[in-house]
Amino acid sequence: MKAWTLSRYGNPSTLELRDWSDPIPAAGEVRIRVRAASINPIDYKLMRGDLKRIQPVRFPWIPGFDLAGDMEAVGDGASRFRVGDAVFARSAKGVHGAFAESVCLPESWVAAKPASLDFGEAASLPLVGLTTIQGLTQRAALKAGDTILIHAGSGGVGSFAIQYARALGLNVTATCSSRNEALVRELGAQQVICYDREDYRQLDQRFDAVFDLLGGEHTLAAFDLLKPGGVVVSIAGPPDRAFADSIGAGWLLRLGIFFNARRVWQRAERGGFRYFRFLTSPSGEQLTTIAGMVERGELRPLIDSRFPFEQLREAIAHSMQGRARGKIVVEGLV
Ligand SMILES: NC(=O)c1ccc[n+]([C@@H]2O[C@H](COP(=O)([O-])OP(=O)(O)OC[C@H]3O[C@@H](n4cnc5c(N)ncnc54)[C@H](OP(=O)(O)O)[C@@H]3O)[C@@H](O)[C@H]2O)c1
Repeated sequence: MKAWTLSRYGNPSTLELRDWSDPIPAAGEVRIRVRAASINPIDYKLMRGDLKRIQPVRFPWIPGFDLAGDMEAVGDGASRFRVGDAVFARSAKGVHGAFAESVCLPESWVAAKPASLDFGEAASLPLVGLTTIQGLTQRAALKAGDTILIHAGSGGVGSFAIQYARALGLNVTATCSSRNEALVRELGAQQVICYDREDYRQLDQRFDAVFDLLGGEHTLAAFDLLKPGGVVVSIAGPPDRAFADSIGAGWLLRLGIFFNARRVWQRAERGGFRYFRFLTSPSGEQLTTIAGMVERGELRPLIDSRFPFEQLREAIAHSMQGRARGKIVVEGLV
């Protein structure tokens, strides 16, 4: 098969399209013919080596997490799908990536594609959707009536999270630039703070939760906006206390994590707040939940742009600019 591969850390131009042996599904795995994939910032962060201390890459490597396609083969003991089924999935770093003609994954990571979506739309959902569910529901246990501030409401995660939070019955405030204000309102945000016109840190309001998609100074600032007992769910800030265990970190890395995260941990603990910063896991079950929400009209994909598979480098370079409205999709494999 053809696959986009990397043999060292680099940038989009380091990617090579080359022949790769066809993957064979092991017991419990399925092989999916990839019809579309989508880009996530983690793709270029891993590619550049930004995360090499906590998530080193073993080369040669096929990057890519999000995909949708047709079931091509099922391994021994895999029984949920039949050849020809249309599916979508989130892959993981240690296995074949999505930017290839075929990928083998455990069948428990895969779900039936929502029938109303094309492959590109379906491929836009897994990573952002799983991240949102695992953050807002699985960890923070938010419930109807809670108030939430969602940063970067116009991006891949934010555009999904606004819709998901509204479907849960949350009251949603989102940040974005004024060029995206109408879009973010249309996605369901009841209040929008445009960062080029006002500073969300000046708000008098307090929230049950902040979904921090920005990191840096914004992670600590999130705690100043919480009601008593509130929660910061971050996917861009320093690790939480459980993170080192989740990646099996040795003592040196644990020390590094402590120095990186201690101000945030202290702020959370002194204020009586919860803080979560986690890596997203694959889950076919949660993708089935997402598919159901799509079919009920509670969620829709937001596609920034579509690139042919041959232009993966350009698609990733576009993502690196950080201005996408929703998701960037690559489709039409060679
Ligand atoms: N579990 C995990 O660890 C996990 C999972 C998923 C994502 N992430 C991380 O989460 C972050 C967001 O991911 P994403 O896929 O949503 O990224 P993205 O799609 O590239 O985000 C782009 C969006 O961010 C908006 N934006 C940029 N600066 C902003 C600011 N200061 N305030 C408000 N909006 C701003 C941009 O709007 P304008 O152009 O209008 O500024 C654009 O619409 C990334 O750092 C990613 O690596 C982590």
